[in-house]
Order: sequence, then C-alpha cells, then structure tokens
Amino acid sequence: MSCRVGVLVSGRGSNLQSIIDKSKSEEIDAEVAVVLSDNKEAYALERARKAGIKAHYIDPEASKPVLIGNAEDSYINTLKEYKVDLVCLAGFMRIVKEKMISEFKWKMMNIHPSLLPSFKGLRVQKKALDYGVRFAGATVHFVTGDVDGGPIILQAVVPVYQDDTEESLSDRILKEEHRIYPEAIDLFSKNKLKIKDNRVFIEGANEE
Ligand code: GRF
Repeated sequence: MSCRVGVLVSGRGSNLQSIIDKSKSEEIDAEVAVVLSDNKEAYALERARKAGIKAHYIDPEASKPVLIGNAEDSYINTLKEYKVDLVCLAGFMRIVKEKMISEFKWKMMNIHPSLLPSFKGLRVQKKALDYGVRFAGATVHFVTGDVDGGPIILQAVVPVYQDDTEESLSDRILKEEHRIYPEAIDLFSKNKLKIKDNRVFIEGANEE
C-alpha cells in the first residue's frame, strides 16, 4: 500500500520536488497527500499546487524557531485530516516540539545537509568548509526531541574540494539529498525500517 506523506516546508522546496517527482513516476511507493508551510511566500507551496497537491500556509503563531500551542495543534490536526502515514520535514525552518513528535512517533523524518552528528544547526555546509573536512554529505533521520539527533536512516557522502565555496558544496550535497530522501520514504513505506535502541536497521540491506 502506498504511504501518504505530509511534507513540511519553509522555502524553495527542491527536496519536496524530488519526492513529488519520484512518487508520480512511481519510483517510490508513496504519494504526497499535503504540503504545509510556515511561510506564505515559500516557493515550495507553488511547486505543490503545480503538481495538483493540496498546499496550505499555517501561521506558526511564533517568531522563529518554533511553533506555538495553537499552531502546533493546527499542524497536527491538518496532517491527521489528510490521513498521513509519514511526516517529512524538508527545509522546515522550525524546531518541532514534544506534542507533534509524540503524535508522529517514528513517523517523522528530517533531512539535514551534513554527515550527522557533525555540524548540527544552520549553514552547516559553511561549517564543514570552515572546519576543513575532506568529506561532507547529507543525512535522513527520524525526528526526536534531540534536534538533528534522531536515529539515522540513510546518509550520503560527497568529497570536499579545495576550491569549494559554500554554494558549490551545498549544490553537491543537495543532489544527494534529492536521491536519499525519496529512498528513505520508500523504505518506510515498504515497512523495511526497524528501530532498535538508537539504530535503524534496514530489512534486507545486508542480504545478497
Ligand atoms: C536542504 O539543504 C535541507 O537539507 C535543509 O534545508 C534545505 C532545504 O532545501 N534542511 P529545499 O527547500 O528542499 O530546496
């Protein structure tokens, strides 16, 4: 059965686009049921509407970086109205708090443009460059109360070159994000992800 995904966005929505494209072409076993944003102007909302997907702005009722009481309830209720099986944060620039996390326990994922647990927070591609790492990458993880710290589902590694800028490194990482986020959703949809302690085991991953 195809999994119904609710995607939360704040900006340009390129990850959303890759999820939409791969679900429409049936490369993954999922369909985007609704897109929600804390930013009226998010280009991601337009991408969703262009694809014929319901998209709503919901006032966060707080200055960044959280959602407060009523807003959190509106997000939860809307996701439930659309009967989503999975919530995907895709460039959603807010910290999701306990109530929403427990409503969607192990049913909420995030994508982060670093090899977690290195470089949490914002502008992490710049942090990676400034640190001088040789490899950077992207991580899809389950959302827990530990910001950017939940169990890791998939990661992708990219090299860092001497002449990289924040932009060139971000672009290289973004290509990988567009590949691994839909893949993680597909694994979830096929019920292949099992969590034990802090580790995610992928059914069939070590089988030839
Ligand atoms: C991505 O780099 C994602 O990893 C981070 O925010 C960015 C969102 O980009 N959380 P987009 O809106 O999906 O294009």
